[in-house]
Amino acid sequence: MSDKPWGGRFKERTSGAVEAYTESISFDGELYAQDIAGSQAHAAMLGRQGVITSEEAKQLVAGLDQVRAEIEAGTFPWRQELEDVHMNIETRLTEIVGDVGKKLHTGRSRNDQVCLDFRLYVSDSLRRWMLLARKLCGVYIEQARAHADVLLPGCTHMQPAQPVSLAHHLLAYAWMFRRDVERMGDCEKRVRISPLGAAALAGTTYPLDPSFVAGELGMYGTFSNSMDAVADRDFALEALFCGTVTMMHLSRFCEELIWWANPQFGFVTLSDAHSTGSSIMPQKKNPDVAEIMRGKTGRAYGNLINLLTTLKGIPLTYNRDLQEDKIPFLDTNKTVRDSLALMADMLGATSFNAARMRRALSAGFLNATELADYLAMRGMPFREAHHITGRAVAMAEEQGVGLEELSLEALRSLSPLISEDVYAVLNYDTAVRRRNMPGGTGPDSVRAQMEALERWLSVPLAWEV
Ligand code: ARG
Repeated sequence: MSDKPWGGRFKERTSGAVEAYTESISFDGELYAQDIAGSQAHAAMLGRQGVITSEEAKQLVAGLDQVRAEIEAGTFPWRQELEDVHMNIETRLTEIVGDVGKKLHTGRSRNDQVCLDFRLYVSDSLRRWMLLARKLCGVYIEQARAHADVLLPGCTHMQPAQPVSLAHHLLAYAWMFRRDVERMGDCEKRVRISPLGAAALAGTTYPLDPSFVAGELGMYGTFSNSMDAVADRDFALEALFCGTVTMMHLSRFCEELIWWANPQFGFVTLSDAHSTGSSIMPQKKNPDVAEIMRGKTGRAYGNLINLLTTLKGIPLTYNRDLQEDKIPFLDTNKTVRDSLALMADMLGATSFNAARMRRALSAGFLNATELADYLAMRGMPFREAHHITGRAVAMAEEQGVGLEELSLEALRSLSPLISEDVYAVLNYDTAVRRRNMPGGTGPDSVRAQMEALERWLSVPLAWEV
């Protein structure tokens, strides 16, 4: 005889190896809070609809409160032979409240139950990511404000291109993370939809009220097709994608920090708290946090492909393969959460070395575009101006100086259009200051960006209020 909650038709016990192979409690226990909230809403709804008495509904809700307390106190008896979080909680509930516990599953299947739990969990995760990403945006803004006058080489092809302000460079990331938050918020609207009432796959004959359950759980709506409701996991995929994009953005910044922390750049000094040493080379201070974050990004990409691959061959509706959906999501959730939090700390504690950045400006002819534009503004066709400037660069390179250090005579030998006022144009600060068009690196534009971002941060997210 089987002692499983589903064991009525089974004559033999499940083998130990099968129990160990098919269980999910080793990872889905993390969904306990969502499972209990979902069951409490379901029980209350059964009571309101007269499927069970309101006294029974109350007993179930109170019993589930006790289960939650036991889990949070660490005294809950998790049992692998009960497979998953759902049956562990239901079994313990029945031990606590007696036979009425067996009424909880009326009109419900684990198929719609697990989907509800997972949707709530994914939605709660997205919300946490959004708060953390907003906090990180705030740190980018703080660092930008503290370094409003610092210039550094802006690069293309990882080669010095034009001077930009450090604030502008940092705010580029703030805008990326703002888009991430918006993407997550958009995704969350599709995730937080209740599938409860779909039952196993076909709906149910009990007079359930799925909207009441959705309302109790702060969800935006209910399913439209019971088969879709239990089989769909695109909500988790989409959330994984959102998290993956955030990791990609973090990883790009990590890459910059790693370069900048190299003494040959010397643009940043990472705090000791966010660096580690070498066991053999005493001088080393390694940017391990940034490297590990870049490394974890690869794992997050893998998790997205993992779930996509799991889903591609699954016919309608629920198939047990779907139990594997939680593993990649739980892993990415932890990675995104920890990485966003840690990056906010690390960035806040990073010191920027303005003098090193300034010195790097003169090494790469970053004012060459200024000279070409100067000539073009004096009527020379831009292509020609580009060519003449190239000759000026070659001349400066030969002399081992910057463009601004060439004599007026030397410059005029290239074009008589050049006069004394060229030196003001070749000045790096001027080059940055003149780029005040919206979105440019000029100080007015940077200030406007900071204000726009701060306005966005000052408005709480819809579900925060
Ligand atoms: N542990 C299962 C999962 O995570 C719960 C659903 C089980 N449903 C079933 N019909 N066996 O997917």
